[in-house]
Amino acid sequence: MKNLFKDTVKDKVLTEEHPEEFLGKYLVLEQEYKAAIKEVTTKLEILDEEFKCSHEHNPIHHIETRLKSPKSSINKLIKLNKPLNLEELQANVKDIAGVRVVCNYIDDIYTIAHLLTNQSDITLMTEKDYIANPKPNGYRSLHLVVTVPIFLSKGVKYVPVEVQIRTIAMDFWASLEHSLRYKVPTDTTKEIEKRLYDCAESISLVDSEMQMIHKTIQEHEFTGKES
Ligand code: GTP
Ligand code: MG
Repeated sequence: MKNLFKDTVKDKVLTEEHPEEFLGKYLVLEQEYKAAIKEVTTKLEILDEEFKCSHEHNPIHHIETRLKSPKSSINKLIKLNKPLNLEELQANVKDIAGVRVVCNYIDDIYTIAHLLTNQSDITLMTEKDYIANPKPNGYRSLHLVVTVPIFLSKGVKYVPVEVQIRTIAMDFWASLEHSLRYKVPTDTTKEIEKRLYDCAESISLVDSEMQMIHKTIQEHEFTGKES
């Protein structure tokens, strides 16, 4: 256990002086973030199933979850220039628990975000709409940080979860861009960035067209049922 932070933490810090105590507490904390991921995932699955029944359409293609590793959490605290302890970690790192919701269509993203954040036990902390305002490299997704209550033997605790919501097409771009980013030869950086940006723009047009095709088909189904 003692070696876990050795290559990460350079300064003399609490973790080095009391590594067992720190890690013991960290494991308790991890379990709470895991519980929060379960709560949010269940809420999303229930919404998806209900939508399938009432609208004959699944807004969610699939859900991925991840728990930030202790090493990445510590690295983020170092990046933020904060003291390395669990209180600072909980106060400053809001993406320890991560849920990625991959939707079928653009409208599904906002439907899911609205239905989730409107639930009485969910509090929306921050919202970044990189679909309305894409990042300069072309990245698109809706990012929310919400808190969800988890019920423990010692009482209720409100735990933050980062929820990234995007279409299958946006997810395709983001995952390839992420894996390519570290391999780009320096003399081609500008050119590759431009080509990746162009791909993001093309993908966005395809997303809008798929959305319109879906809408047209839905309207026809609706009028077909009425007559
Ligand atoms: P982090 O320190 O990375 O968490 O960034 P941040 O706190 O500024 O938050 P932001 O909402 O901008 O991004 C959080 C997460 O979104 C990242 O950890 C990635 O998973 C994803 N993300 C953001 N920008 C990009 C991007 O340009 N490309 C890809 N592939 N993913 C991105
Ligand atoms: Mg992050």
